[in-house]
Amino acid sequence: MAKDSISKLVIRRLPRYYRFLGDLDAMGITKISSRELSERMGLTASQIRQDLNCFGGFGQQGYGYNILDLRHEIGKILGLNVENKAILIGAGNLGKAIASHLNFEKMGFKLIGIFDNDPQLIDTKIMDIKVSDIKNLEMFCEKHKPDVAVLCIPKSAANLLSEKLISYGISAFWNFSHYDFRLSNQDVIVENVHLGDSLMVLSYNLRERNEKQ
Ligand code: NAI
Repeated sequence: MAKDSISKLVIRRLPRYYRFLGDLDAMGITKISSRELSERMGLTASQIRQDLNCFGGFGQQGYGYNILDLRHEIGKILGLNVENKAILIGAGNLGKAIASHLNFEKMGFKLIGIFDNDPQLIDTKIMDIKVSDIKNLEMFCEKHKPDVAVLCIPKSAANLLSEKLISYGISAFWNFSHYDFRLSNQDVIVENVHLGDSLMVLSYNLRERNEKQ
């Protein structure tokens, strides 16, 4: 199957495969059948075979999957072997948490700069990265050519800032700001994160369960 026709749902499941295979590797397991993998992951064996067949299928009949090889291949498909340069805008509560607790490098990114407009935060450090004045953003982008911006600013600031960032050459956003991008540039990629959505799904499942009881 051509890579550009792989469904978004399959792509969304790949990080979970990657994570699971990492856990199995850490437990010293070297190979696994699609049935065993499906039982551990709560998916059907045919779902797993279908998903992995989208990329040419890595298993061998009667052997199953070699965990390290499969994880490596999924990592390559996810682009984790490439180092994308990321900057983070908004060094407040969320920005600090993301910059301090996420292992960007494990996921194919290197955090190379953090920006804010609050004089109290400028020149403070988060994980050895100095928070720079947002006024230096254009110069920094010209010099270091970051690929991605992580937006941890309020929605009200995101419109103007994202336009500036695009004009400075940023072509991908990890957007926590709740701002709805309306993109005219087809090459710009946005991955929106709304933690609240996940909480609302939990709420839905709680309501469903409670109504059944
Ligand atoms: P915060 O107020 O602690 O941090 C925001 C930071 O952005 C501040 O340091 C502020 O100085 C900076 N900032 C504001 N305008 C700026 C500009 N034009 N240029 C540079 N820096 C600027 O807020 P917090 O708690 O970190 O949340 C940030 C945003 O993320 C909020 O809008 C919040 O609604 C959103 N959020 C989103 C979540 C999600 O799941 N997507 C979860 C939690 C928060």
